[in-house]
Amino acid sequence: MANVVDIGILVSGSGTNLQSIIDRIEDGRLDARIRVVISNNPKAYALERIKKYGIPGVIVDHRDFESRESFDLKMIDVLRDCQVELVVMAGFMRLLTPVFLKAFPMRIMNIHPALLPSFQGTHAQRRAFEYGVKFSGCTVHFADEGVDTGPVIIQAIVPVLDDDTEETLADRILREEHRIYPQAIQYYAEGRIELVGRKIKIKGIEGVAGGPLHNPPVMGF
Ligand code: GAR
Repeated sequence: MANVVDIGILVSGSGTNLQSIIDRIEDGRLDARIRVVISNNPKAYALERIKKYGIPGVIVDHRDFESRESFDLKMIDVLRDCQVELVVMAGFMRLLTPVFLKAFPMRIMNIHPALLPSFQGTHAQRRAFEYGVKFSGCTVHFADEGVDTGPVIIQAIVPVLDDDTEETLADRILREEHRIYPQAIQYYAEGRIELVGRKIKIKGIEGVAGGPLHNPPVMGF
């Protein structure tokens, strides 16, 4: 049985990952309650999305703060006021300072549109596409002091097709993001995430779905 986990979601843009989390809560598959959505961008479409659900939205505009620490302190205040246990970064395009990381140790998740540690940082889908990798994907991980360097919780592999454009690849990666983020939060709600060294183990999971993948196919070897 899972506890219902109180989450706060940090966004900067369109909020499709936010939407996937809302949808999974609404259909009863994700045991979470969104206490607040914080956007650093007053124009983020994510803020429009939450209106019809009555989810509180707060704008904390980084441009109103003199330092990254004071910006982070304001967000910490909001999250604590809203009794948030788990912080979920969903397309949040600011780096967190140690002040924030210490306030929520191992309780900040991030999603990244690449198979970490490949293509850390911005424009990950474009850089993977231009590099010519045969597989890319997405990663949910805990945040740490680095850029996209924290312990990996779950990854999805997405093959790159010959006729892909940057956009079609990004779109297929995004569809997998919408599956693995609710799953990662649900593992958390079920108390199944365990940190061993820098590795995450999910209690009760043995092995993985599927075996090695090849792209293009390995023919007769
Ligand atoms: C997603 O693809 C997410 O992985 C990416 O921003 C997009 C946000 O989309 N995040 C990063 O690149 C963080 N480094 P959304 O606002 O529609 O969820």
